[in-house]
Amino acid sequence: MAAIDTSARGNWNTKLGFILAAAGSAVGLGNIWRFPTVMAENGGAAFLFIYALLVFIIGYPVMVAEMSMGRSSQKNPVGAFRALSNSRFFPIVGFWMVLCGIAILSFYIVIAGWTISYFFEQIFFYAGWYDLASFIADTDNGWLNAILAIIFMGLTISIILGGVSDGIERAVRMLMPMLVVIIVILIGYVLFQPGASEGLRVYLVPDFSAITPDLILAALGQAFFSLSLGMGALITYGSYLSKKENIPEAAGYVTVFDIGIAFLAGLLVMPTIYIAQSQGMVIFDDDGNLVAGIALIFQVLPELFHEMGGLIGLIFGATFFFLLSIAALTSSISLLEVPTSYTIDEHRMPRKKAALLIGGTVTIISIILSFNTGGIDILNYVFSDLGLPLGGLMICLFLGYVWKTENARHEIRSGFEGLDEHWFWPVWTFFVRYICPILIGLVLVVTAYELIGTLFA
Ligand code: PHE
Repeated sequence: MAAIDTSARGNWNTKLGFILAAAGSAVGLGNIWRFPTVMAENGGAAFLFIYALLVFIIGYPVMVAEMSMGRSSQKNPVGAFRALSNSRFFPIVGFWMVLCGIAILSFYIVIAGWTISYFFEQIFFYAGWYDLASFIADTDNGWLNAILAIIFMGLTISIILGGVSDGIERAVRMLMPMLVVIIVILIGYVLFQPGASEGLRVYLVPDFSAITPDLILAALGQAFFSLSLGMGALITYGSYLSKKENIPEAAGYVTVFDIGIAFLAGLLVMPTIYIAQSQGMVIFDDDGNLVAGIALIFQVLPELFHEMGGLIGLIFGATFFFLLSIAALTSSISLLEVPTSYTIDEHRMPRKKAALLIGGTVTIISIILSFNTGGIDILNYVFSDLGLPLGGLMICLFLGYVWKTENARHEIRSGFEGLDEHWFWPVWTFFVRYICPILIGLVLVVTAYELIGTLFA
């Protein structure tokens, strides 16, 4: 895969290149850090059920919408709205998406930094350097968080500057399957530990009475976050996509791959939580909230590797965190690419300057977050749970009523012969015009109503 090129557009050389890049964007901390954490907070199986439903009825249609807008306009989100309509309002929406990208990236790199520190924690622990191991694993250490976030940002910027290079394609192609294999082996191990069956039950047997408006919003936010939707990442990636490719098919692969990895991550983490609990680790407080909060997987998984013991524990532990940081990197690239391509296209800035400017701004925010990790929850709520679905709603309204599905049809037809006779077409248009906007709108309205209620209570 050549890449995000600096001069010309339209250069994922192969179909696989595009699918890999989009899957690389989708699969990341969202699957392995965020999904299990949000699920544990929201009662397990009921969350999984709603999440899976929303991925298919809302996530997938929106993904097709983003990719076709990107490929048709050959632009970043702001430019895409401008190129596809005369609207003055929608470019502002595009700008909101760019902002969401900046905000999400600023906390994303802090968490991604932890995947690096836990890689080293596993090594130090094996070597018997316990003090060093607990030092590097201290997620409350602001300076350490900041340094790790800066390192991670440096890696992200260096890839954005060179274009998404051949190296990344190879990385995604080889390392993602490895991640799957490791997770599957770990699941096999975990399921035989005492306490695992309770975790499995919580994960797989839904208690539908647990479904609340909060849970639905969390599931919707998670679906958008995990699939990289609602902030124009796939508009931007779609703008580099060749006219020969079949968009609905590519989106289908990415969706199934992404939810598959999230499901496996849950299958690993939920039982692990209950095993840890049966060994006396305190996971939930009296109100049922997570004690470790966003650090949940960094609380339970390293313990699991230590318990496996010896060289085996080290190999699994270090490889797991290494692969997780690569997965995070292929996502952070796409998060940075959105504001960068916006700055290049709309402000005529050279790529290098744009990447450094945006990357620098994001780094400053992430340093502040490094010392105040509580701020991550707030950004996560405002920009992921509310911001991304809002972006998705706007994309549906834009595509369905401003750009119009007829134009989208023209775009999707290229690479998809027989679209006009295929059931996909009427079903997708119905979802984009009615089902998705109504459902997203409902969730957002109910949430706003609840928020106002709590503010004035
Ligand atoms: N989907 C990525 C993940 O799961 C995060 C992401 C969100 C990337 C939005 C791009 C846009 O980790």
